[in-house]
Amino acid sequence: MKVIEIEGGNKLSGTIRVSGAKNATVALIPAAILTDEEATICNVPEITDTDALCDILKLLNVNVNRSTESLVINPKDMQNTCITEPYSKKLRASYYFMGALLGKYKRAEMYFPGGCSIGARPIDLHLKGFEALGAKVTNDKNKYIVEAEELKGANIYLDIASVGATINIMLAAVRAKGTTVIDNAAKEPEIVNVATFLNNMGANISGAGTSTIKIKGVDHLHKCFHEVIPDRIEAGTYIIIGALCGTTLKIDNVIPEHIDSLVSKLEEMGVKLEIGADYITVLERTNKLKSTNIKTAVYPGFPTDLQQPFTVLLTQADGKSKVTETIWENRFMHIPYLKELGADIEVKNQTATVIGPSDLKGSEVVATDLRAGAAMVAAALIASGKTNITNAEHILRGYEQIVEKLSNVGAKIRIKEI
Ligand code: UD1
Repeated sequence: MKVIEIEGGNKLSGTIRVSGAKNATVALIPAAILTDEEATICNVPEITDTDALCDILKLLNVNVNRSTESLVINPKDMQNTCITEPYSKKLRASYYFMGALLGKYKRAEMYFPGGCSIGARPIDLHLKGFEALGAKVTNDKNKYIVEAEELKGANIYLDIASVGATINIMLAAVRAKGTTVIDNAAKEPEIVNVATFLNNMGANISGAGTSTIKIKGVDHLHKCFHEVIPDRIEAGTYIIIGALCGTTLKIDNVIPEHIDSLVSKLEEMGVKLEIGADYITVLERTNKLKSTNIKTAVYPGFPTDLQQPFTVLLTQADGKSKVTETIWENRFMHIPYLKELGADIEVKNQTATVIGPSDLKGSEVVATDLRAGAAMVAAALIASGKTNITNAEHILRGYEQIVEKLSNVGAKIRIKEI
């Protein structure tokens, strides 16, 4: 097991460069198999979720060449075999192979995906979307076979604006006959990035980034070159860390409009920011932080993935703050560990009430999931003394070189194996 050890209380300063977006990358890699030609994707983060998807590509006999930050995927010798449980279970985003394989071969065989335990995480909306396109879904325990004689465009209304279902239906519909319209589609920037990639390959998708996406099926997709957008959640995490430490910290390679909701909450709390075209600098702070309330929501609302790190910031604000989680029913697993570090937080139903400011003291904590792990790192950086974060594998799934990036700006952080 990997453990991240942090000696807290060091002032951070300098620049942290944000990597390519995990949640875009994990969809772009499966999307690349929709062509028979080569796809080059650059700004790919070196995280273990990328490794897990490349392993699935290799299982399918797809040629993958990886060099620093770029990935060349060539599916010309690909074989559509079953994605066995150990592969599917490694991460949530393995489910994008369902849509991509269905779109290309009219048949996908795989197991229920894995991922963080932050709620039930059903895939019913994905499957309903595939069925609307003409596919038959057979499910035996954890195994799914999705197949169709022909995929035909359809009008699909999503009961929930699900990121995964929106992308998966796009992947299945891109080579279907006729036009598919997804209503109440999710609007996250990662969806726009995936639609741009597919359009670069010759797809005909319009409306990505709005709640109605139109996909006109095409027969053929061709080679392309594509760049992953910067990771707004990684950027937000480091901006929160900057705000916690209170010294000047520049976060580079950011698309500021992707984190508008976070920026306005930080400004409301009294955090001073300098916002450039592609960077945000957290400026030195002498004032106290003001308390505030957040409620997670689909984009452009406050992202659920930043809720956990943001809660750490609220432990340092003056007075009572509330955090309401509306997307995932089990996303307060970090709270007992924040309390272990000295925070004053109570959870009732889907709302956490935080009373601050609290002095945090180093302790032994667990990264129960990816963003809970990021919250532990943020808390440990301002806690006095040493904190050991076990199950750090979760953090490495989504944060490229987190130890190096934080060390470079003055944190005392190391990773060890026990
Ligand atoms: C994606 C992100 C994740 C983020 C989440 C919400 C990836 C790989 N992961 O996850 O980091 O926290 O968006 O922004 O991009 N739902 C159903 N049925 C379905 C699908 C979803 O009921 O078939 C529900 C979920 O249980 C959840 C809500 O819809 O309550 C949103 O889920 P969704 O947007 O699909 O999240 P993911 O795509 O899994």
